[in-house]
Amino acid sequence: MADVSLAIIGGTGKEGNALARRFAQAGVRVLIGSRDAAKAQAAAQDLNTRIGAARVEGYTNREAAERAEVLLLSVPYAGMQPILADVRAAAQNKIVINIAASLDPEKKSRAKPPAAGSVTAEVQQFFGDATRVVCAFQNISPEKLESVEEKIDSDVLVCGADKDTRAQVIELIRRIGVDAFDAGMLANAVAVEALTAALIAINLRYKTKGAGIRIVGVPR
Ligand SMILES: NC(=O)c1ccc[n+]([C@@H]2O[C@H](COP(=O)([O-])OP(=O)(O)OC[C@H]3O[C@@H](n4cnc5c(N)ncnc54)[C@H](OP(=O)(O)O)[C@@H]3O)[C@@H](O)[C@H]2O)c1
Repeated sequence: MADVSLAIIGGTGKEGNALARRFAQAGVRVLIGSRDAAKAQAAAQDLNTRIGAARVEGYTNREAAERAEVLLLSVPYAGMQPILADVRAAAQNKIVINIAASLDPEKKSRAKPPAAGSVTAEVQQFFGDATRVVCAFQNISPEKLESVEEKIDSDVLVCGADKDTRAQVIELIRRIGVDAFDAGMLANAVAVEALTAALIAINLRYKTKGAGIRIVGVPR
């Protein structure tokens, strides 16, 4: 994954943009995707100025997906379906990272898994077996993710696809200085996504913003 290119679908939004900056700063070629190419190009230009390098490009979601080797989905679950349909052909034979969690839109501190079990499983079902879909980043608070100058001290759990794909995604995530762990198969994504609701509940209960997780008992 040394020279991998990463399409961030919905990279004009808060989370995608923060991840785009972290990956670009780490030397990864980043392709920001948007429903509007001009918006993506403006976001890319802004990031290049901030990092002082020409490492970010902007395209429509579909073109970004076509041009990249790895796709990261950073669109709201509620608006995801048409975007999945738009990038489905481009996602074939590629790795797709889903960062959305299955939360109850009425109350985000409550988990609400879809019929497929998790958003990640739903994306996998929609793209089909030729696409390798994993979940990642669900357990990092938006505040931590968006504080792009700060190191993220929370671990990332990667579930889905196969062992080799998870290893590749973990290697990619470690490039931004975040520890990531192989947390097993796609069926486990339900735990990772539901944990997001639990972390939101913790933030509400203790009036904090940055609740996250650390895996113990495993060598780093
Ligand atoms: N730690 C984490 O990993 C973490 C934390 C918080 C959130 N998330 C997840 O990250 C994803 C992005 O979060 P965000 O706050 O960055 O989202 P956002 O700003 O609301 O949306 C991201 C981008 O998606 C596109 N979009 C927005 N609404 C849409 C709709 N209804 N239909 C289609 N496209 C739409 C927009 O791009 P264009 O207008 O340019 O097309 C927007 O810039 C969400 O799934 C969220 O649940 C993850």
